[in-house]
Amino acid sequence: MIADMTGFELANLGEGFYQDPYTIYRKVRDTAPLCQQSDGSYFISRYGDVAAILKDHQSYSSDKKVDFKPKFGDGPLYEHHTTSLVFNDPPYHTRVRRLLAPFFTPRTLRALEANVAAMIDELLDQAEAAGTIDLVNDFANAIPLNLIGDMLGIPKDEREPLRNWANVILGGLEPSLTPAQLATGNAAVDAFKDYLRDLIAWKRTRLNEREETDILSALLADHDSPDGLTELELMHNCIFLLNAGHDTTTTLISNGMDLLLRFPDQMALLRAEPDRMKGAVEEMLRYESPLQIGNRRAMTEVTLHGQRLPAGTFLHIGIAAANHDERQFPAPEAFDIARKPNRHLAFGNGIHICAGNSLARMEASLAFSKLLVRFHKIEQAGPTLRPDRARFRVVSHLPVSLAA
Ligand code: HEM
Repeated sequence: MIADMTGFELANLGEGFYQDPYTIYRKVRDTAPLCQQSDGSYFISRYGDVAAILKDHQSYSSDKKVDFKPKFGDGPLYEHHTTSLVFNDPPYHTRVRRLLAPFFTPRTLRALEANVAAMIDELLDQAEAAGTIDLVNDFANAIPLNLIGDMLGIPKDEREPLRNWANVILGGLEPSLTPAQLATGNAAVDAFKDYLRDLIAWKRTRLNEREETDILSALLADHDSPDGLTELELMHNCIFLLNAGHDTTTTLISNGMDLLLRFPDQMALLRAEPDRMKGAVEEMLRYESPLQIGNRRAMTEVTLHGQRLPAGTFLHIGIAAANHDERQFPAPEAFDIARKPNRHLAFGNGIHICAGNSLARMEASLAFSKLLVRFHKIEQAGPTLRPDRARFRVVSHLPVSLAA
């Protein structure tokens, strides 16, 4: 099949794309809002289309049992991703989402806030002593990893390998994978499962003592109820929670800092008017959306931009492309912390809307509030580095110097 005239191919993105995907997305939105890929799938880039497709779970499926087979084969990555709630439709999705909901209520979040604040203070003490830090590895990474570690009840001294497992398992979702990446991803799922199996066995011995209040223990205790999760479902959804909440939030904080450094007038405005923090975090989410591309499969024949697509058509959902659509956001390339309205789609839309969105917003707000109060001067001390990843907008290094 012939690629679309824009030449935009997810399976073959050029070097320049990773530095600045937004210029390319603008061209795609303008010239091919329904952009056919050489494998017959389509890339969707306009805000109106993306918002509507994400909202319509009856016409567009999230189930990936068919799609992931050629990519992952029968291995552990396949088992993991196809058991996670995000890649399933109702009724399985509804069952898992309902079981997770109590862990994300405003009340639960309020209870976690003091922990997060203390964790950030501790990291900033270390940062102040060091003077120059890598904002990604010395700060942003540690916050969500430890918070979700606490929520899942993973002992503090056992958390180090989780970071790498999360990275390579999520890396498996990139549009194209080398055999080495596939092997590393499969090994990470196996290692994570082995670890959780031991942890679950240990937690089972303590369930009756009612000492444990974490998600893993609570879901284990629910195990015998008719809707309870099997051990495999429990393991994969816990792995997913860690992966979903870790990289994305690290990415939000790292990109947010990068944006404040690139747009110093906005950093100055935020310092002068700290009440703008909520708007600033929303604009960070819009401008550099951590999850840039999702996907859905049409369940019935659908018509988009006058073109009929048969049931079964695979769609790449351009969340980041939609969040830069001038049809919805005037001057989308301006980073404007006062932007209103700012109905970005960084957390998705509809039944799969991010379960951890309030948690991520809380972590980022606290992180930036505390950084700006503690340090009157924050300067870039080296280039912002990004790996070549299209699905997630990852920052790998961001050296900053800090003066109190
Ligand atoms: C800035 C940080 C985050 C971003 C940008 C983000 C983004 C997203 C997006 C776009 C989806 C929807 C995917 C789809 O519709 O296909 C999603 C789903 C999800 N996210 Fe997040 N997420 C973030 C943080 C978190 C955190 C901290 C957690 C939990 C600890 C979390 C847990 C989940 C879960 C459980 C789902 C699946 C919901 C479902 O399928 O019903 N996320 N996230």
